[in-house]
Amino acid sequence: MNRKFWQGKRVLVTGGCGFVGRWLCRALKPAEVDLHILDLAPSEQLDVPHTFHRTDLRDLEATEGMLADVRPAAIIHLAGQPGVGSSHDNPVGAYEANVLATFNLLEACRRLGQVESIVAVSSNHVYGHQHERPTKEDAPLRGHGMYAASKLAADVLTQAYGKTYDVPVGIARMTNSYGGDDHHVAHITTATLLSALKNERPVIKQSGRDLKGYLYIEDTAEGLLAVAEGVAAKPELRGEAFNLVPNESVTVIDLVRTVLQVVGADLEPEIQRPDAPFEEEQLDNSKARELLGWTPAHDLSAGLKKTLTWYREHGAG
Ligand SMILES: NC(=O)c1ccc[n+]([C@@H]2O[C@H](COP(=O)([O-])OP(=O)(O)OC[C@H]3O[C@@H](n4cnc5c(N)ncnc54)[C@H](O)[C@@H]3O)[C@@H](O)[C@H]2O)c1
Repeated sequence: MNRKFWQGKRVLVTGGCGFVGRWLCRALKPAEVDLHILDLAPSEQLDVPHTFHRTDLRDLEATEGMLADVRPAAIIHLAGQPGVGSSHDNPVGAYEANVLATFNLLEACRRLGQVESIVAVSSNHVYGHQHERPTKEDAPLRGHGMYAASKLAADVLTQAYGKTYDVPVGIARMTNSYGGDDHHVAHITTATLLSALKNERPVIKQSGRDLKGYLYIEDTAEGLLAVAEGVAAKPELRGEAFNLVPNESVTVIDLVRTVLQVVGADLEPEIQRPDAPFEEEQLDNSKARELLGWTPAHDLSAGLKKTLTWYREHGAG
């Protein structure tokens, strides 16, 4: 983090009560920012001083009124519906939380024209199946399924606000983040770690052969801050997307085995569909390295050790 950029700044975090939001707020703490959180409900898990605003981003008028009152210098937009399954089951909810909410926030920012820097989160899911790997940000976006489609629509809308209206917004294409304090207990990393701590066999629902990127949550938070800093410093980055991904992808089975090794659990994972089809995802993080100076500080084993320490200190639920 560039402490000088953030020191004392008024920062608004949308979805700040969620998993990524809580860690982002913790990352901002040393800079003593004037922290404002917008969400649907406050969180008891949030241990950072802040002003809470109960605002629904699906309401453009309410969003605009809130921004006019608070006048943040920087906004990190994390509010959304993150689940693949929940988006499939509730496509209207996925559209409203991921597309409409992002549109309303950007439109309100365009109208007010006072924000110095905005980050909108997108997802690895926007890429879908890619022939060229590692995959760079300018690859064709082939994501399918309702979650991917809603993130892809928001991603393209954000590019348009940056490029067409010159709104100072950058796009963070985040991958699977893991760490302590994760209420998404079905996330494979969290689920495996919690099973291992109870000495129960972890479950892999598919073949275990899917290749994916897993990023430690403090690296994700630093990446989001780097996108905000970059967009504020370099107007040519407006509307640009950045892969916030680890240096290496890993198969699900190797991820699970590494978690078991870090916990010190002698358990054999249960692979439920060994013959299921699998995808290989390898995203390239060189654009974020070169243009933002961001690089993940933790490899998988270092991130998992910190995650384990968090659950040992705070309880595994
Ligand atoms: N967690 C990951 O690994 C991951 C990976 C890639 C992308 N993302 C994206 O990052 C974002 C944050 O993910 P997360 O895991 O913290 O999700 P989360 O569900 O923990 O947090 C999302 C927050 O957004 C709030 N929210 C939803 N709709 C809202 C609305 N209409 N108005 C105001 N607030 C609203 C929710 O109340 C919640 O607190 C999501 O957009 C997600 O798609 C997450």
